[in-house]
Amino acid sequence: MKKYNIALLPGDGIGPEITKVTKKLLQTISNKHDFEIKFEEHLIGGTAIDETGNPLPNETIEACRNSDGVLMAAIGNPRFDKLPREKRPETGLLKLRSDLNLFANIRPVKIFPSLVNSSTLKSEIIENVDLIVVRELTGGIYFGQPKGRIKTEKSERAFNTMSYSTEEIRRISKIAFELSSNRKKRICSVDKANVLDVSQLWRDEVNKISLDFPQVELTHMYVDNAAMQLVKEPSQFDVILTGNLFGDILSDEAAMLTGSIGMLASASLNIDGPGLYEPVHGSAPDIAGQNKANPIAMILSASMMLRIGLNENDAADDIEQAVNSVLDKGHRTSDLIGKSNDYLGCDQIGEKINDAIQAK
Ligand code: IPM
Ligand code: MG
Repeated sequence: MKKYNIALLPGDGIGPEITKVTKKLLQTISNKHDFEIKFEEHLIGGTAIDETGNPLPNETIEACRNSDGVLMAAIGNPRFDKLPREKRPETGLLKLRSDLNLFANIRPVKIFPSLVNSSTLKSEIIENVDLIVVRELTGGIYFGQPKGRIKTEKSERAFNTMSYSTEEIRRISKIAFELSSNRKKRICSVDKANVLDVSQLWRDEVNKISLDFPQVELTHMYVDNAAMQLVKEPSQFDVILTGNLFGDILSDEAAMLTGSIGMLASASLNIDGPGLYEPVHGSAPDIAGQNKANPIAMILSASMMLRIGLNENDAADDIEQAVNSVLDKGHRTSDLIGKSNDYLGCDQIGEKINDAIQAK
């Protein structure tokens, strides 16, 4: 029987609740599809700071490196917002991405048919949306040097650097072109080349890579226009290729097309080595511990892990079909239901999905 070692990182806020539900589903699915998953839980984010003083203890990095896949829930807690940057939860996640060289972040945005009316946008605008944001994840302004704060004569100045090398642009572009070759064969590369030098290099290099993929149609769009087009006519997009900061912003915007950011999964990948699978949403401290969170983004992240990382495609299909059928039956979590009180808790929707997997 195949055995996989999964590093499980529950993190902060709603993280532990959605992890519990997702872990249980993975156990059900592995029994059903005849493989074994060994889970090892590790600390990251605010919980890790509280226990060890460090948002990403070495032991966590090592365990992730030696795993077959890393499944993370969410990190972040406003309690730490005033601390120096190296002591904040987000720094732990950024270091994990960087240490494992997870340069390719894949964020699929697909509308579940039964949720077309949960979006704040009109159903005719979103019903055909099926796009993927390919976000560069280990470069750009998130990691560029120099950065910092300096005292000036009168006050203070702070700065970050948005920088990309040819190699960084090429490797993420290749991933986007390969993905797109198996889809609708359309890439829209998003930049700000009308203003930024770094974006002009981005555009030049993406153009060069496109020569190796003549079957894929490449267009370019400025990020301000892309933000507008995503709400105006989102179905025009197939693969959106973009840098770290623009990808962060546009993927939250794209998430809302699906009705809730609680639905969006992601995979962060290297050329080889274990990937990191995590929901796009954050730790939602305002609803933590209340059994109100939507676990579906983490469940779908687990299904991306099964598909991309472990090659267990049938198990991944099974999870996605179960989520679909539970939504089709009208079950909703609080984020999907607007003001009504008639929603299922995190545990309860998890049970429904679990039942749907077992029933098939
Ligand atoms: C995301 C998040 C992270 C990011 C934060 C938590 C550091 O917003 O994964 O999109 O900015 O990349
Ligand atoms: Mg984000």
